[in-house]
Amino acid sequence: MVAMNFPKNVSHLGNGSVFDNEANQCILVVDDEALIRKILKQMLSSKGYIVWEAGNGKEALERVDQLTPDLILLDIAMPEMNGLEALEELRKRPQTRLTPIIMITAYEQEKTKAFELGANDFISKPFQYDELMARVRAQLRLQQAIRDLEDAENILFFIAKVVEARDAYTEHHTERVAAVAQLLGQKLGLSQRELKVLRRGALLHDIGKVGIPEPILNKPGPLTPEERAEMERHVLIGYEICQPLRTLKEALPIIKHHHEKWDGTGYPDGLAGEEIPLLVRIVSVADVFDALTSDRPYRPAWPLKKALEYIREQAGKHFDPEIVKILMDENLPEKPDLYLYCSQAEKQSANERAH
Ligand SMILES: [Fe+2]
Repeated sequence: MVAMNFPKNVSHLGNGSVFDNEANQCILVVDDEALIRKILKQMLSSKGYIVWEAGNGKEALERVDQLTPDLILLDIAMPEMNGLEALEELRKRPQTRLTPIIMITAYEQEKTKAFELGANDFISKPFQYDELMARVRAQLRLQQAIRDLEDAENILFFIAKVVEARDAYTEHHTERVAAVAQLLGQKLGLSQRELKVLRRGALLHDIGKVGIPEPILNKPGPLTPEERAEMERHVLIGYEICQPLRTLKEALPIIKHHHEKWDGTGYPDGLAGEEIPLLVRIVSVADVFDALTSDRPYRPAWPLKKALEYIREQAGKHFDPEIVKILMDENLPEKPDLYLYCSQAEKQSANERAH
């Protein structure tokens, strides 16, 4: 069974506004003037924010190694390490790469440089209480919206794992499909963005099986026509589940169409040839490749050689012949990438070579 980790920050779901939990937000104030820090601390604390302080850029970096603020107010002119140098460093660190950073400056000309280095906003000295609070809230609200989106996505990836957990035979299937699909995508020269969509689509492609009854999902023998029709609904259920999330829009065709076939005999829409989007055609090859080289309730895993022979034979029928060609290029011991990605195939090939 798959190890199931609950998505991070699930508690954020449904929290529409930062005002709901202002008291939990931590702000790091970085300024070399103790008086300014004191004023900012009073302003922010009066609204329930927890305030941490640092006297220069160097101290700020030390602080974020120990604590993770929700927002940083960063003065520019400071001794030891100024705000721009600190900003550059903060953006390199994973824990503060996306943290909202509002620069505090008296000089207009510093703004362009700070934007280039990744500042989110500015407050000019001398600052007004209302403006400061409005800018802080705006940045925290934006950050919250991003977190909510990530949470919603994490929930879906979690459901995809639950689907795998319902079926002992498909353990880690989606991870392997994603890995093989990415390998094929790289060989096809896809962009980083396309590879990302490919991975997400591959991980979520069977999420709709969450709506398929257990006895059908795990039936050891062949399915009846009625059961098959029920099983085929998983592509539409998956589409319905993921469709509301705009960030998954580009991956939706993979979820809906991964059972289409090159010759037009697949489902749900009977698309054929290049009517089927390229990323979908890639996942379709990777999906079947992993299914064949894994144990299933109704048959043991096929040896790698047999699986590849079947896929070659299906070029132009089930699969895009060009993608099959690429899979074949990865073939056998001198090109071992597939072995690394496919545990079952790896075992099989080791057995084959041992005999
Ligand atoms: Fe499927």
